[in-house]
Amino acid sequence: TAIHVLNGPNLNLLGRREPGIYGSATLADIERDLRAQAGRLGIDLTFRQTNAEGELVGFVQEAGLAGAGVLINAAAYTHTSVALRDAIAGSGALAVEVHLSNVHAREAFRHVSLIAPVCAGVICGFGPMSYSLGLDALARLMAGRSD
Ligand code: DQA
Repeated sequence: TAIHVLNGPNLNLLGRREPGIYGSATLADIERDLRAQAGRLGIDLTFRQTNAEGELVGFVQEAGLAGAGVLINAAAYTHTSVALRDAIAGSGALAVEVHLSNVHAREAFRHVSLIAPVCAGVICGFGPMSYSLGLDALARLMAGRSD
């Protein structure tokens, strides 16, 4: 089973970026923990980050067309990108949306996700644990299980 973990804009700044909201873990910390989890689950993990919307669209297409699952924190593009939504739908990717923060407890513009309707589910508000829960959920979905 292959899963691509795709990270959008400004997530490269985790650890120093608004730590009161996003915590102290860096993206490298999150990647290290997910790789350990993926190893235990027997998942072939690809982990990527980009600040560019078009590149994120390309990453989604690549994963979807290869039949890999997509665990995505699209960051700010979550709330703005029709192109990203169309990439998930168009490539047929099985996707799970994650966020570190509880977007529903924040500004109104973060309450809307343009990609949620084309994702299997959304996990937010648990910090790095959102990624871990999302990876577990996606692995189970890909194995055809829902328990
Ligand atoms: C985020 C939430 C988004 O609203 C924000 O633009 C981000 C990070 C999160 O993980 O909490 O950059 O996706």
